[in-house]
This record gives sequence, C-alpha cells and structure tokens, in this order.
Amino acid sequence: MSGLKGARVLVTGGAGFIGSHLVDHLLDHSNVGHVSVVDNLVNGSLDNLAHRLNEPRFTMAVGDIRDDAVLETALKDVSVVFHLACLGVRHSLHAPVENHEVNASATLQLLEKSRTAGIGRFIHVSSSEVFGTAQFVPMTETHPTWPETVYGGSKLAGEAYARAFHRTHGFPAVVVRPFNTYGTRSHYEGDSGEMIPRTIVRLLAGQAPVVFGSGEQSRDFMHVSDTARGLAELASCDEAVGQSINFGSGTEITMNKLCEVIAHAMGRSDLLPEHLPARPGDVGRLLVDGSLIRALTGFQPEVSFDAGIREVVQWFTEKSANGEAMLARVAKTNWDSALDAVSP
Ligand SMILES: NC(=O)c1ccc[n+]([C@@H]2O[C@H](COP(=O)([O-])OP(=O)(O)OC[C@H]3O[C@@H](n4cnc5c(N)ncnc54)[C@H](O)[C@@H]3O)[C@@H](O)[C@H]2O)c1
Repeated sequence: MSGLKGARVLVTGGAGFIGSHLVDHLLDHSNVGHVSVVDNLVNGSLDNLAHRLNEPRFTMAVGDIRDDAVLETALKDVSVVFHLACLGVRHSLHAPVENHEVNASATLQLLEKSRTAGIGRFIHVSSSEVFGTAQFVPMTETHPTWPETVYGGSKLAGEAYARAFHRTHGFPAVVVRPFNTYGTRSHYEGDSGEMIPRTIVRLLAGQAPVVFGSGEQSRDFMHVSDTARGLAELASCDEAVGQSINFGSGTEITMNKLCEVIAHAMGRSDLLPEHLPARPGDVGRLLVDGSLIRALTGFQPEVSFDAGIREVVQWFTEKSANGEAMLARVAKTNWDSALDAVSP
C-alpha cells in the first residue's frame, strides 16, 4: 500500500483533541476517499466534529472500542486505521484497571479484528509516556521504556502488541510515539486537563496558574496541526511499517517557563504560579530525537511555539464568555477522583 489516495480511513478516538484535528487534516489536505470515526465520547465531543457531520466523505459512529460488534462494524470496508482512542495519564492514577482495559486490551482486540479484516495500514498512536523520565536526551527510539504510570504501561502494552502482530503475521502496523501536543480543542477539564489549556482558562478567570512540584519538569510540545500532518505522512510511508517512531518538536520547555510565556501572551504576568505538591508519577523530562521520522518522511514541525500559544490563547478567549463555568470544570488537583473538585 502506498499513499492514502482514495483510502477509506477509520480514526478511533476521532472526536478527541488530536483525533478531530487528524480528521480535519485527512479531509482537507489529503486525497483520502472517506473518513469514519468511532468514539464513545467519554472525553471527546461532537462539537469537535460539528463542521464535518454533514459531509458525504465523513461518518461518525458513537461506540465503545471494548465492544466487539462496534469494532466489526467500524472496520467494514476500511483500508487504513489510525488508532487514537484511549484513556489518559491522570485517569490511570484513579482507575488503573479501566485504563488498561481501553488502552491495552481493547487495542489487542482491535489489532486482531483489523488483521482478520485485512486492513492495509494500522497507525498505532502510542505516547512518549512509555519511556518514563528521560535517562538521556534527546530521546531516540532505543531509549529504555520504563513507564512511570499505568497509562505509560498500558500504552507500552498496546505498542508491543502492534509490533508483535507485525512480527508474527506481517501485519502492516506502524507505532508512533507523539511527545506532548497542544492546540485548539485541547482539554482543560477534569482528569483530562492539560497544563497549557488549564493555565489559559485559569488566567482568563483571573486565577494564578497551578504548577505541581518545582515546575522544573520539562516537556517537548508540538502544535496539533503538525501532529496531524505527521501522522498522515507516516501512514503513507511504506518504510515506517514495523517501526516504532518518536515524534515531537525537538524543543524543551519547563512548566515554570510555560506559565511565564502564557501569562506574558495574555498580559497577566502579574499572576505568578501557585506551587502544589508534585503529582505522583509525573515524568521529569522529555525531549525527542526526531532523526528517524525526518529520515523516513522528511517531517519538520512548522508552527513555532510562540505562534501556537497565541492561537490557543485566542481560541480559549473567544470561548470564554462564561469563563467562570470553564473554570468550574478545571480540577485543581486533577488525578484523584476524590479531589476532583473546583478549588480556585
Ligand atoms: N495529547 C497529547 O499530548 C498526547 C501525547 C502523546 C500521545 N497521545 C496519544 O494521542 C491519542 C489521542 O490523545 P488526545 O490527547 O487527543 O486525547 P483525547 O482524550 O482527546 O482523545 C481520546 C479519545 O478516545 C475516546 N475514547 C476513550 N475511551 C474510548 C472507548 N472505550 N471507546 C471509544 N472511544 C474512546 C475519547 O472519548 C476521546 O475522544 C491517544 O492515544 C494518546 O495516548 C496524546
């Protein structure tokens, strides 16, 4: 299989943050024939795909990937699968078994159904969380995989199954490990809430950013349009099959610096971060070595961090007519369901 031309594509988790941008990229900037989404909307939203719902080249199915019948229906007439459906890192701290069931067991089930359905390309979206904290930087594909959380462990199991299907059956799987992604439609709410959108929503409501621990933890952030484009490019790359590929921007920023940049962009440099105790299992450092993906596809991120942050700030500002209601959905300590309460 080469290229996505005319392909019928399934995106699991396509109503989520990255998935919905991938759907947009595939429909607007590739020559796919059709895109369908399966998502149970536990964290995704139809709002993310509202502009697509009436398109003839697009189909939305609400369903759970733990359900065999849902998978069989979703895979009908499909030739390419992008597998993004998952439960997140903070969810894994308060619900580890369910986290494993979705991220690992359902992935195995989807792989088996995809193999028997004769799927021509399977893009398994894993995560840099499989590595745990960096033992050296930049992090190559051979960096040890010592996850800190059940989320990281469950994502590692999923990618190990994808690789095993390739080695045992020649199944055309590609494992991709995005580092951190940010952009419009990112989550600020509950245990899905990510640092950048949480900080923006708090600042919009006049509240100081919240940083867990020293704030010297660092991440490699890439804009979601770059993530979506890179995933599509990898799906068209025959040499990527059977490989595990790291995927990020190659720039590192600490949580303290992130708060400073966002506060500056929002004209609220007066609101200094409030430091709370460290989050259990919080990875200390992540920074990609992007040599492999560059060699395979020529991929280079295009959106600068400053421009990306300005865009996300503007997007949340436009949505924030009711900033207090948004703030009410930001859980200050957002990994313990018992503490999942509003606390400005
Ligand atoms: N956001 C990041 O920074 C990041 C970094 C590395 C890897 N990833 C990976 O990218 C993928 C997408 O992440 P995201 O940030 O867009 O998260 P997200 O939560 O927005 O998307 C995941 C989607 O999966 C859906 N889902 C969850 N359980 C399901 C189930 N049982 N059946 C059907 N659908 C289900 C959710 O409703 C959601 O729409 C995930 O696989 C994640 O591990 C994300």
